[in-house]
Amino acid sequence: MSSDLTPPGLPLPHDSALLHVTGKARYTDDIPTPVGTLHLAFGLSPEAHARIDALDLGPVRASPGVVKVLCAADLPFANDASPAPIPEPLLATDEVHYVGQPVFLVIASSHRAARIAARRAKMRLTPLPAFLTIDEADAAGSMFEGGPVVWSEGDAAAALASATHIAEGWCEIGGQEHFYLEGQAAVAHPLDQGVMVQCSTQHPSEIQHKVAEATGLALHDVRVEMRRMGGGFGGKESQGNHLAIACAVAAQLTGRSCKMRYDRDDDMTITGKRHDFRIRYRIGADAGGRILGAEFVHLARCGWSPDLSLPVCDRAMLHSDNAYRIPAIRIESRRLRTNTQSNTAYRGFGGPQGMLGVEYAVEHLAHVMGLPAEELRRRNFYPSQAPFAATHYGQEVGDFVLDRLMPALEESSDFAARKAAIAEWNAHSRTLKRGIAISPVKFGISFTLTHLNQAGALVHVYTDGSVQLNHGGTEMGQGLHRKCCQVAARVFGIDPDAVRITATDTSKVPNTSATAASSGADMNGMAVKAACETVRDRIADFLAAKDGCTVAEVLFEDGTVRTPAATRSFAEVATAAHGARVSLSATGHYATPKISWDRVAGRGRPFYYFAYGAAVTEVAIDTLTGENRILRTDILHDAGNSLNPAIDIGQIEGGYIQGAGWLTTEELVWDAKGRLSTHAPSTYKIPACSDRPRVFNVALWDEPNREETIFRSKAVGEPPFMLGISAFLALGDACAACGPHWPALRAPATAEAVLAAVARARGTEPEGVGA
Ligand code: MTE
Ligand code: MOS
Repeated sequence: MSSDLTPPGLPLPHDSALLHVTGKARYTDDIPTPVGTLHLAFGLSPEAHARIDALDLGPVRASPGVVKVLCAADLPFANDASPAPIPEPLLATDEVHYVGQPVFLVIASSHRAARIAARRAKMRLTPLPAFLTIDEADAAGSMFEGGPVVWSEGDAAAALASATHIAEGWCEIGGQEHFYLEGQAAVAHPLDQGVMVQCSTQHPSEIQHKVAEATGLALHDVRVEMRRMGGGFGGKESQGNHLAIACAVAAQLTGRSCKMRYDRDDDMTITGKRHDFRIRYRIGADAGGRILGAEFVHLARCGWSPDLSLPVCDRAMLHSDNAYRIPAIRIESRRLRTNTQSNTAYRGFGGPQGMLGVEYAVEHLAHVMGLPAEELRRRNFYPSQAPFAATHYGQEVGDFVLDRLMPALEESSDFAARKAAIAEWNAHSRTLKRGIAISPVKFGISFTLTHLNQAGALVHVYTDGSVQLNHGGTEMGQGLHRKCCQVAARVFGIDPDAVRITATDTSKVPNTSATAASSGADMNGMAVKAACETVRDRIADFLAAKDGCTVAEVLFEDGTVRTPAATRSFAEVATAAHGARVSLSATGHYATPKISWDRVAGRGRPFYYFAYGAAVTEVAIDTLTGENRILRTDILHDAGNSLNPAIDIGQIEGGYIQGAGWLTTEELVWDAKGRLSTHAPSTYKIPACSDRPRVFNVALWDEPNREETIFRSKAVGEPPFMLGISAFLALGDACAACGPHWPALRAPATAEAVLAAVARARGTEPEGVGA
């Protein structure tokens, strides 16, 4: 039987790779629909904040192809799409709170008819004062949770007062559109009892709950099925609720299948994004470069409803130390309520913003001290040997590897020599400047809400030896299904292609958590292992009795099952076991051990373990135009005993590029009325193939997880996103090469931002926030 410490898994391609590249992979919108399926569209608010005085839907009803039009008062049961305890109306009631908020629902014979009709409403609205920006909301004290959340450890003010060197300032961090290639989509089919929903979601169980509340059905009458997403990135944790609920309600009211998909502009206009943050920092060190204390104020734009903002902002606070032991720290988090889209989960879930805050502050402090930033980082790493240190929330960091990982990366990327060469080059180049930076990542793995850390699986072995597997996780391109197949294949000693994973289905594995927090493979992989081991052990018992050997002598290897008496194919054994009335189906369950978390006090062990990584990025900027480019990136990332190195390297490359995109080209712009101006790829720029680093070296830090995770692997979905921070710091470094002053580069580092930072470095423009 396979040991937990066998070498890394095989680098097999994604199980749907062939379907993806041939266009045969079916997404929600590709599933054939029954004849007579109706199509839905929301009518949207044109105002950022207004009272609804009158809603004339007559012209909408009269529009060709319209079957029914619903507003809030027409909904039969709950009007709530919220993933949080605080309700969020699916359709606006007496007020609208952002431009793009769904106000009414059109049910029509075609997608086009529904969209055309949705624009024909006559709304009489009285505008109310709107808070659009962080500044406006902060000045007005417009905040969730009744006020700031503050966590502190030690006396940061006193520590700063005793510091020899201080850096202080603001770090401006833009938001980010998910830009999943597949937009939000859902279909609901009425059943003779209940409803069946197929939709693009990271969280089928929550869809089931919200649909049940909206239709008055019990959970056993709502079935949600999800085969795959064309990307989720956190944007399908809660933001798909609206479409699924709308379809289910419409299916119930019309008795027909109902389908809804957002057009790209509507998707960007309606759904929430990554939170933009502004972080005020003060950080201080002694003469030897040891950080004594830090203070952070996080201003986070949450949008109009809480959605997942509170845990997102918590995770930002939890990552305000990143890799550094900061003996005294105070973090204040203001969760600002604004009249914009409700910001939501996005890869890293607030961690990236918190981490950028401290990395930016450390970079600034190094600038103030005239010390190489990597040297300041190294001096302040958490200890990797006993006595270990605890984080500001009281969790001991007992698995720190960056003190070894970062030097290894410096070595493999030739960091010191390249840094010297860049300084030399910058001394002679007037217009073009280069920059280089290395930045570490320490990311906590687990949901901070402890009860979410559980998963379930269901396995069937058929008599021909083929295996069907189901688990609570969802596939969004990250390769979770392939990894889970590999786990099952390893337990049964069979080829991974003999294992088929079916669509995620609330009727197969119930009461699941969202596939999020990077814990998909950690948790579902363990549940799959447990389920498979149950069946394997039953087979082993049966064969041991039959062949007169011990259970330990029954070996599952290479598609065969061996006992001292005989070698049989796995298929033969399955047939024989079934003939002897042995059950070949089992469920498995897993609950992450060792974690506990007191959210109010901000203390405990929220994370089972940490995932680590580091990246070196080299960039060039043009000081006349602000144009910039990533020239080379080297990454060393800790995926533990990788379950699948090919998939993990894909996650690392994709995560890095997405992180770099967030901090460079991806800029969200709202106009003065609160309308999102950048609502299509024509104006919102995600990285293209041509934006990838010309030299891109990615390697895995091969060392088993110290905790007993699935085959000692580590979660890899989100942590590499934060390696993109090195691209931003490298751009800051290039700007700093233009003059003696701190350039205070803001994110995203668009051409305009780079130009402003170059001017600041030269002292030709006043320092400050913005620009
Ligand atoms: N990779 C792809 N290709 N597509 C995605 O949507 N989402 C990311 C990450 N990697 C995503 C992805 C996010 S936000 C998370 S939380 C994890 O995958 C979720 O999957 P996992 O827990 O199985 O790693
Ligand atoms: Mo990922 S933001 O946890 O879906």
